[in-house]
Amino acid sequence: MPPRLLTAPLTTPAASDAAARAAIFPRVRWMGSKHKLLPHLAQAFADVAPAAGPGSALDAFSGSGVVSYLLKHQGWSVHSNDYLGFPGVVASAGVVNHDTVLSGDDVERILGPAADERDFVRRTFTGVYFTPDDLAFLDSAWSHIDTMSGGGRAVAIAALCLAAARKQPRGVFTLTGDLSRYDDGRRDLRLSLREHFVERVADYNAAVFAGPRECTVSSLEVGELPQRRHDLVYLDPPYAPPADDNDYTKRFHFLEGLSRYWVGDTIMWDTKSRKLPKRVTKYSSRRTIEEAFREVFKQFHDSPLVLSYSSNALPDLETLVRLLREVKDEVEVRRVPHTYHYGTHRSAVRRSVDEYLFLAR
Ligand SMILES: C[S@@+](CC[C@H](N)C(=O)[O-])C[C@H]1O[C@@H](n2cnc3c(N)ncnc32)[C@H](O)[C@@H]1O
Repeated sequence: MPPRLLTAPLTTPAASDAAARAAIFPRVRWMGSKHKLLPHLAQAFADVAPAAGPGSALDAFSGSGVVSYLLKHQGWSVHSNDYLGFPGVVASAGVVNHDTVLSGDDVERILGPAADERDFVRRTFTGVYFTPDDLAFLDSAWSHIDTMSGGGRAVAIAALCLAAARKQPRGVFTLTGDLSRYDDGRRDLRLSLREHFVERVADYNAAVFAGPRECTVSSLEVGELPQRRHDLVYLDPPYAPPADDNDYTKRFHFLEGLSRYWVGDTIMWDTKSRKLPKRVTKYSSRRTIEEAFREVFKQFHDSPLVLSYSSNALPDLETLVRLLREVKDEVEVRRVPHTYHYGTHRSAVRRSVDEYLFLAR
C-alpha cells in the first residue's frame, strides 16, 4: 500500500512555544541541522508522547544538539547520542547541564596568559586555518580548560568550538590556506577567536536552564546503543545524497579534534587540511545504507519512532515506509514544504527539498 502523505498539521500553542524557546540554542552550521524544523518536530513529539506526558526520549543522531534541546524544553528526559565527540560536548553544555554557566572570572582566566607551554594547535594548523594569534589562543584557552570539569568545562569547550565554526568560511574545514576570497565583510569572519569566544560563552550561558528531568549523553555508533525501550526515539541519520558524500568528519574534523584537544586522535599528516580519518559505517555507502536503516528500526522496534527525511536522498520515501512497516503497525508520513534559500536562483531551485517526518507507532 503506498504511504498516505499528510501535510504537517498546524502547531499547537504549546508546541510553538517550546520551539520558540529552543530556537535560542547557539546555532552551528551542521549538515542536516533541524533548526528550521523545530515547530514541526515539537508537534510530532507532542503527538507521540504518552498520555501521562513526556517520558524518556533518545535523540540517537544528535548533531548540532538543537533537537535534544527542544526535547528538554518539552519536558522529556533526554539521552543525546552521536558517534562524534563535538555533538556530545554541545549536548553536555546545553542539555545535560541544568545549572552551570561560565562566570566572568572563568572567562577572564581563559582569556588570560597560558597556564602551560602547549602548542599543538600552532604546530599543526599554521597556514591551514586562522591567524597565528587565533591559533595561539586555542592552545592557551585549552591550557585552562584542561583543569576544569563538569558543566563549566562543557560550556567552555562548546563556546570555543562554536567560535572556530563561526570564523571558518562556510563553517566547513575542507577549505584551507588563504581564504580571503570568502571574506565578504561579514562580522563573523572579522572577529578574532577571543572576541568570538566571549560572545559564544554568552550564547551558551543564555541557553542553560533547569529541565524537569535528568538528561544524559553518549558518543556511540548507533548500533552500540543499548536495545531498550524509550517513550520516544528520534532518528535523524545521514542519508545518501545524490551527488556527494555524507561524511561529517571530512567537513567538521577541526571541531571534532578541538572538542578534545586532539587527545587520542591520529591526524592524517599527508592531507592539506590535517584531517582526521573518516568513520565508515553502513550509513557511509549507498550499497549498505538500506541495511543500516533496517537495523536501526529493528533495534528500536518497541519504541515510538519519529524519523526525519529529506526528499532527494537514499533510501527513498517508499523504501523507508516499507522498512518501517516491517516493525511497526502504524506509519504516518507528514510533509513539510521547505526550501533552502541560498545560492543563485537556479541552484536554489535545484536544491529545493521537502522535509518529511515519519511517525511510527
Ligand atoms: C543529519 S545529522 C543530525 C542533525 C541533528 N538532528 C541536528 O538537528 O543538528 C546526522 C548525525 O548523525 C551522526 N552519525 C553519522 N553516522 C552515525 C552513526 N553510525 N552512529 C551515530 N551517529 C552517527 C553524524 O555525526 C551527524 O551528527
